[in-house]
Amino acid sequence: MSQERITSLLTEKRSYLPPEHGKSAAWIGSQEEYESICQHANDDPEGFWGARAAQLLHWFRPWNKVLQSGSENFEYQWFVGGKLNAAYNCIDRHLINGRRNKAALIWQGENEMNVRCYTYQMLYTEVCRVAHALSSLRVRKGDRVALYMPMIPELVIAMLACARIGAIHTAIFSGYAEGGVLSRIQDSKAKVVITADAAMRAGKVKPLKANLDPILEKCPSVAHVVVVNRARMENVAMKRNRDVWWHDLIDDFTLDADFPCEPMSATDTLFLLHTSGSTGKPTGVMHSLGGYLTYAAHTTQWVFDMRDDDVYWCTADIGWITGHTYAVYGPLALGATTVMFEGVPTWPNPDRYWRIIEKFRVNIFYTAPTVVRSLMRLGVAWTERYDLSSLRILGSVGEPINPEAWTWFHKYIGREELPIVDTWWQTETGGAMIAALPYANKLKPGSATFPLPGIDATIIQQSTEEDGEQEQRGYLVIRKPWPGMMQGVFQNPQKYRSYFERFGIYESGDGARIDEEGYYWILGRIDDSINVSGHRLSTAEIETVLTAHPQVGEAAVVPMPHDLKGEAIYAYVTLHEDCPWSEELRTDLRNLVRRDIGPLASPEYIQFVENLPKTCSGKTLRRMLRKIAGSAYSDLGDTTSLASPAVLPAIIQGHQNLMAGHPEQYTDA
Ligand code: PRX
Repeated sequence: MSQERITSLLTEKRSYLPPEHGKSAAWIGSQEEYESICQHANDDPEGFWGARAAQLLHWFRPWNKVLQSGSENFEYQWFVGGKLNAAYNCIDRHLINGRRNKAALIWQGENEMNVRCYTYQMLYTEVCRVAHALSSLRVRKGDRVALYMPMIPELVIAMLACARIGAIHTAIFSGYAEGGVLSRIQDSKAKVVITADAAMRAGKVKPLKANLDPILEKCPSVAHVVVVNRARMENVAMKRNRDVWWHDLIDDFTLDADFPCEPMSATDTLFLLHTSGSTGKPTGVMHSLGGYLTYAAHTTQWVFDMRDDDVYWCTADIGWITGHTYAVYGPLALGATTVMFEGVPTWPNPDRYWRIIEKFRVNIFYTAPTVVRSLMRLGVAWTERYDLSSLRILGSVGEPINPEAWTWFHKYIGREELPIVDTWWQTETGGAMIAALPYANKLKPGSATFPLPGIDATIIQQSTEEDGEQEQRGYLVIRKPWPGMMQGVFQNPQKYRSYFERFGIYESGDGARIDEEGYYWILGRIDDSINVSGHRLSTAEIETVLTAHPQVGEAAVVPMPHDLKGEAIYAYVTLHEDCPWSEELRTDLRNLVRRDIGPLASPEYIQFVENLPKTCSGKTLRRMLRKIAGSAYSDLGDTTSLASPAVLPAIIQGHQNLMAGHPEQYTDA
């Protein structure tokens, strides 16, 4: 994280009390109540989680044991012996508890006129048909189904159909390109892939099925591909006996064909979702059914103070964990109305979000700081045209929200009175971990406030430098297991253990500090991840792609501060001898990453260098490269460990030229 941003967070002193109006009806209505629940959860974690699981979910069979720890490998099993089904909890039970004709899913297409709404009954019908359809393709309990789909209702339906069967879905963000998709399908050994002909993005048709075809040549596990006809593309290549159109496949199943829910064990895997780790290979995070679903429902209810008549909108793409937990599983488990939007906030005009809030009378709006920053820049005139008075709670996720964006969000969207729940969590944690409760906690802009009840977070000192100070900062860790925690890393137990090995407890990979009032301030990743617009990317993955270019010798990728994205990608690249630096090569390298991982991972800047700064043992000093990328030249720290300190001035000069927009000059450096 940038020094500037850390400094602005450290100097932020304002605070905001929770609104009085709404407190009495809130799930948790005061700081005292929050503290007393924390106390109870701390004294009797199993009692606390068991009670929440029983209150929030329908169990076909109760568990024998809330938590079983196999402490040697840090393996934790939740609700052992319990039986349930996620589709039953997210749909079927609402058909008999008065919500049958309530809107479960409201979908706004990219085209304003394109809206679809599914009641719980309608969702049930579609999910049963798709479960039958997948079953006809021999998808069975435990099989993996990859979902490479845009933000269309079929994505939610497919997830719940897998859950109904007991198949494990593994979503792949539709913005990923070849390498990202290939590694995920190969790792999960998916039997079926569900995709669409194309995604609609800012008025353009972006093919998906055509991207997938060459990838599938290298994925022998895939027996079938189901294709949703989203964009009515012509000439979509369909391979005989492998590919089938979604509408043709479900056509065989009538509207009243129930598909019974498979009674699953609480410890079965509900889904697999890959995230960027510290290596070049994505980490296949597994979430268990009982623990994850309990945690999703639990946090959705408390953090968003969800009530039965709320219209709730989480803007995250369902290809990421936020979309899984807070657009699908959490709200549907609670029987809420969840809004889903296919488009981008700025197309055709930067008013899409405000328009949707007005149109559907959204009460709870959960988005990312990068979105707030980009809309903030385009001026308040876009917000003033709309009636946003239905809003009750705002939320933020993905990266620390800088005080400027917080203040804008609070003032122009939140009428200077709505709580903003800043939620810190990760793919691995399943749901929010450190987050404000909207009617209980006083807010400080930029702080995710306190750990939720039952979450035993703390900070382990990074160094002793800060000794003697009142504040603590260091590694953010979680001491006790919680139901939403990942169950494992798919076919990689060693990787799973690596989260626990250093401290013997869960290590988040983030740095944080706790202020004198106990507020948590997240300071960004400590490991080699970059957080671009709230999306975690691995530096190693990008370096692997860059070094695959025949002219590239070495690559070192680091984050640099960026006004809109929070962090942007900065790549230092050395070339083989006799390969000249050129603008063309720079474009080629960007395109390579764009093609292989996706546009999100494409470096903002590529700086060609003669040499990377290395230690005598040959280790690249990324810390220094990070500082240079952030223009903090005077803060490079101890340069004596460099094998050749003379490389630094040339790198700094090259960086300055690049920033000044004269990259051609540094080719002479
Ligand atoms: O660095 C933290 C940052 O996002 C990382 C997790 O990324 P991912 O697994 O992709 O999940 C993103 C959505 C939950 C964290 O390690 N992060 C997430 N939320 C916040 C945050 N940093 C600061 N404040 C947050 N509210």
